This record gives sequence, structure tokens and C-alpha cells, in this order.
Amino acid sequence: MSISQKHITFDVEAIRKDFPILNREVNGKPLIYFDNAATSQTPQQVIDVIVNYYSNYNANIHRGVHALSQEATDAYELARLKIQKHFNAAHSHEIIYTSGTTHGINLVANGFSSFLKKGDEVIVSALEHHSNIVPWQMLCERTEAELKVIPMNTDGDLVLRDFDALLNENTKLVFVNHISNALGTINPIEYIIEKAHNVGAAVLIDGAQSCPHIKPDVQALDVDFYVCSAHKICGPTGVGMLYGKQEWLKKLPPYQGGGEMIAEVSFEKTTYADLPHKFEAGTPNICGGIAFGAALDYMNAIGFDTIASYENELLEYATAQLQQIESLKIYGTAKEKTSVISFNVGNIHPYDIGTILDKMGIAVRTGHHCAQPIMNFYQIPGTVRASLMFYNTKEEIDLFIIALKKAVMMLS
Ligand code: ALA
Repeated sequence: MSISQKHITFDVEAIRKDFPILNREVNGKPLIYFDNAATSQTPQQVIDVIVNYYSNYNANIHRGVHALSQEATDAYELARLKIQKHFNAAHSHEIIYTSGTTHGINLVANGFSSFLKKGDEVIVSALEHHSNIVPWQMLCERTEAELKVIPMNTDGDLVLRDFDALLNENTKLVFVNHISNALGTINPIEYIIEKAHNVGAAVLIDGAQSCPHIKPDVQALDVDFYVCSAHKICGPTGVGMLYGKQEWLKKLPPYQGGGEMIAEVSFEKTTYADLPHKFEAGTPNICGGIAFGAALDYMNAIGFDTIASYENELLEYATAQLQQIESLKIYGTAKEKTSVISFNVGNIHPYDIGTILDKMGIAVRTGHHCAQPIMNFYQIPGTVRASLMFYNTKEEIDLFIIALKKAVMMLS
């Protein structure tokens, strides 16, 4: 049965069969994988693409005249077209392969070093992952531009009134995640992009957490840069993409020098390759890029509306169950949120809960989730985070709740 036939109606049990890892046990118990915001699992369809690449046409790309190199080049460039189509970019050369979201952000931050000066201002949000804070702090140190922060409220929403007040003619860049990895808040990026553009600022959206749940249309959003990682979207680690409007990508200087990104090299002068290769120095993650395309095929065959609606059901179900547990506090109660639930129970350290859950075969993330400013806002060391994806089930949530109650009893 083809993927599209199998997934015409959402059949979670059929989908789970695509993920071999979901059959394994951990500590003698069936695995319940609720750490999808850290990395998603990989379906057999994507694993097969990886195995096929290394079994049949592993070769370097854009370099050889031989058959294997040509096949690998074709597959890699076909995957770029799939990524272009998925994000609705106007041109395939606006899709730059990266090693992941962090690489994409650093590429842009580094490029803007040449454009910013003292007196310029850049804005980030209080909800950012460290990877969308530290590169901009480094940029501000290099250029003496000033970093401003859009504050958050206790629900985990951004305070848009304060964002409006931060914008002025000195604002050059705004960086916001589409979805908070720590709280699950879906940020109003349409509003943020429009307001930033009104003062002439460029906008970068960190899509690491949104891409598994939402299909962004970069042209409709009119966003300047959008970044994400394949491993959050059922693809492999070590590969991602940066979308940039071609006018920006043409202006930005290359991030890394090396092979593949040049037009001509001499000791007197080097000229750079056209887009996208200007930003793709060195041998890339060829198999990763091809598998990224396959992962998008897989997700699109299920359909992002179907995925979002099922995950929303899971979110509501899990939230209602968690709210029954005495002393449990959920962090991140925004109206617009995705299937990420961060919580603590009384004064129990999140790490202790995570460790006991692991003994019962349940994988959650504990700690500050690379978002220390959010934890500082709530004055907590961290949370337990359950992040759900379309291959999770209500039955798994029931087992998770039973296990959590046991853990709380043991630790109280
Ligand atoms: N950014 C990833 C997470 O939120 C690793 O877990």
C-alpha cells in the first residue's frame, strides 16, 4: 500500500507501523516517546532512502562526471526542489542547505555583521531558544548594535504592545521563533513580520518547532528568513534549511569559505558562486538532504491539517489529564499552542520525575530546554516537558499519567 492510500483517513495504528523504533522496549517496558520537540522519530520510508543512498549511489555531488556522482547530484537537487515546494519559496536557490537551525541562524547573524553599526537595534523575544539569542548577542558585540527583548506574560504569550513600542527607525532585524520549544506557544508571526516591515526591519523566523506541526508559506508570510532542522520533521539529524529572500541572500556575504562556494579562485582574488552554492562550502550532508526531501514527502502524504488536528486532540486530552494531578502546574497556557506541555509537580525536581519515568519506558525532556530566560521568568530551574507528535496515542497518554502519578508518590 502506498503512503497516500494508507493515510487517506488518519489511522494512527497504521502510521505507528512506519516507525520501527516505536516497537522497542526501554527498561523492560514498551517505549513511550514523548520527547519529539528534541528530535522526532524516523519512518521506515525515510530509513529506506538513507539505506538506498549508501547501498547504491553514495558519491560526492556537483563534482564528478561519473554516474554515481550524477545520480547523487540529481537526488540532492530534487530534494531541494521538494523543500522549495513545501515552503512555497519563489526560487529553489532561495533554499540553502544547512546543518540545522542553529547553522542557519549563525549564517544570517554573521552576514549582518557587515551591515549593522552602533545605534542600530535588533529585537529578539523572551521566548527564544538559546540558539536564537546567543548568535544575536555575538552580532551585537561585534557591531555595537543594541539587543532589545519583547517580553512575555505568565501565559507564555509575547506582549505585543511592548513589541510595538520597541520598534523604531533604528530597528534593523527582528528574530522570533514560530513556536516556543519550552512552552509550545504559537507566536503571531504574521503580525510581527508586518510591524517589523513597517519600520524597514528584516525578520528571521526560527521554525525548528513549527515545521513538524505547520506548513509555512514563506511568500504569504513575506518573511525574510525562515530556518528549520530536518530531524524535527521525521528526517535525519545534521541537516536543515535556511530560506532567504533572494535579495537578502545576494547581499549577504558568504559564511564559510571553501570548495563549491566559489566561481574563480586565484591568489589575487576569489569570486563567489551564485546562489545557493555561495553559502554551501564543502561537501554537504548529501544523504541527509535527500532524506530531508523524503521526510517532507512522508509528512505531506499524511497532510499537515490532519496532523495538526490530531495533535490538538492529543494536547487537549493530555492537558485535561495532567490538570487532575494535585500540585501539578503547567507552564505555557497560551490560547494558541502546539502539543508541547511543560510542567512541574510541587517542589519535585523535574530531573527526578524524568529519571523515574525513564525507568518506566517513558522518554520526556527535563531541564531548562535551552531556554534559560523563560525559566528565569518563572523562577524555576526547569520543567518536565512532554512533547507529542502525530504517532503518539491517547493510550500512551493514559500510561504516562499512571506512571507520573507513581513517580510523584515515590518522590513526595
Ligand atoms: N531544541 C531542542 C529541544 O527543545 C533540542 O529539545
